Amino acid sequence: MDRFNRDSHIVFFTGAGISAESGISTFRDPDGHWSKYDPMKLASPKGFRDDPELVLSWYASRRKTIIEAEPHAGHYTITQFQKLFPNSLVITQNVDGLHARAGNDPVWELHGNIHREKCNTCGQEGNSQAVEDGIHHCRCGGMLRPDVVWFGESLPFGLIEKSLATAGECDILFSIGTSTQIYPAAHLPFQALEHGAYTIEINIDKTPFSAHADLIVEDTAGNALPKLFEEFYAALS
Ligand code: OAD
Repeated sequence: MDRFNRDSHIVFFTGAGISAESGISTFRDPDGHWSKYDPMKLASPKGFRDDPELVLSWYASRRKTIIEAEPHAGHYTITQFQKLFPNSLVITQNVDGLHARAGNDPVWELHGNIHREKCNTCGQEGNSQAVEDGIHHCRCGGMLRPDVVWFGESLPFGLIEKSLATAGECDILFSIGTSTQIYPAAHLPFQALEHGAYTIEINIDKTPFSAHADLIVEDTAGNALPKLFEEFYAALS
């Protein structure tokens, strides 16, 4: 740890596992969303075309869970890290907004944000004009949908390129609570590794990145992050 200083650049790359301790379901764990539901029905453009009510009601129920959830020690510890290392940022696959609620800043959301809506036809944000059969419509007539990335869709314009460049230049990358299976986001820890960053994986299970990480912490994000923060803090003092 002592080869780093306060100018070190740190990337916190996170996935659904960091929100698990806040009571928000992951996707690929045994009780995760995709063990119960077909992602193509709930999180794809075709699924939305086929049954918009089903998709919107699933997102409404997820949004309710998320609004009632609170960030935990892991999220708050990232805020402490960001104070100690001003050149650090969160790049998340999560759409729940918990990083921002814990004061993490900046946060780049690769897969969008469940609290925003956009038009499925023209892509304009929000802009609800009329409600028909419980579905909000845009001025252009298109249906409004959550502003999240679905299977088969592109990530927000330019964001993955910017994220890969940032991971390629960082000194330390934490990969936290992600199964590291969904691309292009899953390139990020490998990109950091290839460019010589020190990589730390925090996960309760093994992932395709585990064999490559410099340090593996097999623990929950809420346990591991405060302990690691103490170690970094001590090494800098
Ligand atoms: P996954 O559900 O694929 O993986 C969650 C990971 O978190 C697993 O590796 C778990 O072992 C780990 N985990 C669970 N609880 C944990 C805890 N308390 N602390 C630390 N780790 C824990 O979620 P993601 O990797 O985020 O995409 O999935 C990536 C994308 O696939 C999501 O953004 C979503 C999904 O389909 C879209 O919706 C576009």
